[in-house]
Amino acid sequence: MSLKRVGILTGGGDCSGLNAVIRAVTRSAIISYGAEVIGIEEGFEGLIFDRHRELTVTGTRDILPLGGTILGTTNKGDPFEYRQFNKDGHLTTQDYSQQSIENFRRLGLDCLFVVGGDGTLQLGYKFFERGVPVIGIPKTIDNDLMGTDYTFGYQTAVQVACDALDRLQTTGESHQRVMVLEVMGRDTGWIALEAGISGGAHVILIPEIPYDLEQVLEKIRLRQEGGSPFSVIVVAEGAKETGKEAITSEAASTRLQGVAQLGGVGNYIAKQLSDHIDLEVRCTVLGHTQRGGTPLSFDRVLGTRLGIHAVEAAAEGKFGNMVALQARDIVLVPLESLAGLVRQVPPDSQLIHTAESIGISLGRRRAADGKGQ
Ligand code: F6P
Repeated sequence: MSLKRVGILTGGGDCSGLNAVIRAVTRSAIISYGAEVIGIEEGFEGLIFDRHRELTVTGTRDILPLGGTILGTTNKGDPFEYRQFNKDGHLTTQDYSQQSIENFRRLGLDCLFVVGGDGTLQLGYKFFERGVPVIGIPKTIDNDLMGTDYTFGYQTAVQVACDALDRLQTTGESHQRVMVLEVMGRDTGWIALEAGISGGAHVILIPEIPYDLEQVLEKIRLRQEGGSPFSVIVVAEGAKETGKEAITSEAASTRLQGVAQLGGVGNYIAKQLSDHIDLEVRCTVLGHTQRGGTPLSFDRVLGTRLGIHAVEAAAEGKFGNMVALQARDIVLVPLESLAGLVRQVPPDSQLIHTAESIGISLGRRRAADGKGQ
C-alpha cells in the first residue's frame, strides 16, 4: 500500500535511543515513500487531546545524540482507562478510546507507530483490535519484553550502571566499605546482571533469584578473610529476600500509572548488612540517570533499524505487529503474542552461569560452591 501520512508516538518511561527511532521513521517515511509524518505529543495523551506536530527531515536532523524523546512521553494516560484525581483527591477513570480513534481518523493517518514498553504496546494492540493500523516498536531500559532479544535503551542503561560500579569500586576499596548500588529493571534483573558482570561486582541480587542474607554475608566475610575488606553489591530494584515481597515506595492503588513504584531495596539491604558486619555500608540509588543522556551507538543503530523496518512493515500493510531484534535480524512479532508477558532472566541463563562461574554471589548457595573471592 502507499503511505501518505503516518503518525508516531512515544509512550511509557523514556530511554536513550527514542530520538533515533523518531528520526529513522521520519526520514524513511519521507525519503523512501514521500509520506508526511505527524508526531503525536506525550504518548497517548496527544492522541486523546489532539496534540501533534509535523516532523520533517530538517526538524529531526540533530536529534540522534539526544537522550529522551523530542515528542515527550508519559507512563500515565491510558486512553481506555484514563486515571485522574478529582477535586476531592479521589482517583477516577474515564474511557477516552473512542475520542482517540476519532482524532486518529481526523488526522488522516495511514498508520500509527507506537514506540513503547509492554504497557504502551498493549495499548497499541487494543487500538489495532478496534481498527487502527498500528505497528509497535519496542523500547525499555529493562530489556524485559517478549519476542525481542534486546530493546534499545538497555545497553545505555547498563553502561551507566557499569560506570557507576567502576567509581564505587575505587571509593569502596579506599575506605574499605561495602558499597551497594540499586539499579532499575522492574521485575527483572537484566540490568543488574550485565552491569554487575561488566563492573566487577562481588554480589548481584536479582528478582528472579530471591536472596538469602546469610549467603551475602558469607561472601563479604570470605572476601575479608582473603584480604579484601571491601565489597561491591548490585541490587535490582525488584530484588527480594527469600519469602518476602519486593519493596515498593508507592502502592499501585494511589498512583496514576496504575502500577506500584519499586525502590528502597538498596537501603534495606545496606541496613541489614550493617547490622551484621563491622564494615561501613553505603548505598547509592542510580535511579533515572539510567534513562537519560547520550545513547550508546548500539542503541542508536538498533533504534534506526527498528524505525526503518517499521515503516517498511507499514508500507506492506503488516499491521498489528511489533518489529523486533531476533539474533541478527529485525523480524515481525504479532503484538497479540506479547499479552502483557514479562521476559525475566531464565534460571538456566548463561549470564547467571557466567556470573557464578567467576565467583560472583547471587545471594544463594551453589551446589559446587568454591571459595573464590
Ligand atoms: O520501565 C522503566 C523504568 O525505568 C523501570 O526500570 C522503573 O521501575 C520505572 O520505569 C520508573 O518509572 P518512573 O519514571 O515512573 O519513576
